[in-house]
Amino acid sequence: MTILIHAEAPTDRLSAAADRVEIRPTSADDLVSAKLAEPPLQIGARVLPSRYSLAPLAGYTQHPFRVAVRELGGLGLATTDLVQAGLLVSKGARSQHLIATSPGDQPLSVQIFSGKQDELVKAAKWLEDHGYQGIDINMGCPMAKVNSQGGGARLMCDPNGACATVAAVVNAVELPVTVKMRLGWDETQLTAPALAREFERLGAQAITIHGRTREQGFTGTVSLDGIRAVVEAVERIPVIGNGDVRSVADAFHMRKVTGCAGVAIGRGAMLDPWIFGRIEAATRGLPPPSEPTIDEKLSFFVRHFRLKHEQHGEYACILIRKFAAWYGARLGVPEDLENRLRRIESEAQLLALADEMRARHGERQSAIATALIKTPNGPNELW
Ligand SMILES: Cc1cc2nc3c(=O)[nH]c(=O)nc-3n(C[C@H](O)[C@H](O)[C@H](O)COP(=O)(O)O)c2cc1C
Repeated sequence: MTILIHAEAPTDRLSAAADRVEIRPTSADDLVSAKLAEPPLQIGARVLPSRYSLAPLAGYTQHPFRVAVRELGGLGLATTDLVQAGLLVSKGARSQHLIATSPGDQPLSVQIFSGKQDELVKAAKWLEDHGYQGIDINMGCPMAKVNSQGGGARLMCDPNGACATVAAVVNAVELPVTVKMRLGWDETQLTAPALAREFERLGAQAITIHGRTREQGFTGTVSLDGIRAVVEAVERIPVIGNGDVRSVADAFHMRKVTGCAGVAIGRGAMLDPWIFGRIEAATRGLPPPSEPTIDEKLSFFVRHFRLKHEQHGEYACILIRKFAAWYGARLGVPEDLENRLRRIESEAQLLALADEMRARHGERQSAIATALIKTPNGPNELW
């Protein structure tokens, strides 16, 4: 069965990135490129249960979403939202929420950002002392509030500073340190391959590369050539490819074309939380899992909400609203119920709504998601 969920034309507040999920049978070619029976991916001493990981989406891929997706199977590493290193050490309430985790939320890396090396070093040590198992340095964030402090993608413009930062963090902790970055600041400064090579020499244990420049933001398509250049630049550490993977075939295609050791999926996992299970089935040579039943879909939705509720109480009702557009499409929720999800105010209301979603399953008129996942848009300097 083929289900296509296309996003509507983007508004000026939403990016033109293709927010769509395509679920289709895996082809024989896909299976060949899935490299059946390959050894597990290792990052430092960490052996990952899958080569397919959840890319961080700030505001979405927090503990409740990660656990709910892990329970569907097939997910390897997940990474927290980017956390301001200075705030983490001063134990700001918001940063503590961002690093909330549980035994069922492994393997997990915490992603930190700062333009200040000493803040990153202190945060890395703090995370090691508090039992976290992996540290990821953000060098890809395109947002002005991060870049203006010298953090995120801005670090890629200062190769010496970026290398000094990675070396300082690597030397401060025993934990594996990884870096997530873009291809470079813009197409005239494609610094990722050279930086990846240096970071490896300095002791970084893996690189995740989003195949766009900072200038591109979330527009255009991911450059598989750009990802391949990073893969070819390093000697032995794994490079995880990232960007625009929306299906099993996309994931295997990225691996085949770029040679990357694994793939990180962000928006594709929001659009289809079952994507990791499909990938796992394909890598094991099993037939593609059938489309989840309405009960399975709703139990995922309610589980995600309950985990949010455990963490945030009734405020979870506000937080779940932003998932309405794509859960509406993916779960086949009738449009008027999707609108009610956007205004949900209590756990009792949400559970009653889930019952109505079950009773009225099949009444949705359109498979089109009513909004895109928000990304910065317009001229970079205004982000
Ligand atoms: C809403 C949103 C939030 C994001 N937050 C982060 C973040 O906290 N850290 C990070 O490294 N990348 C972040 N990213 C980038 C994603 O991890 C990923 O690199 C990008 O979305 C491309 O992958 P995808 O097409 O699979 O989503 C974010 C992207 C979006 C759309």
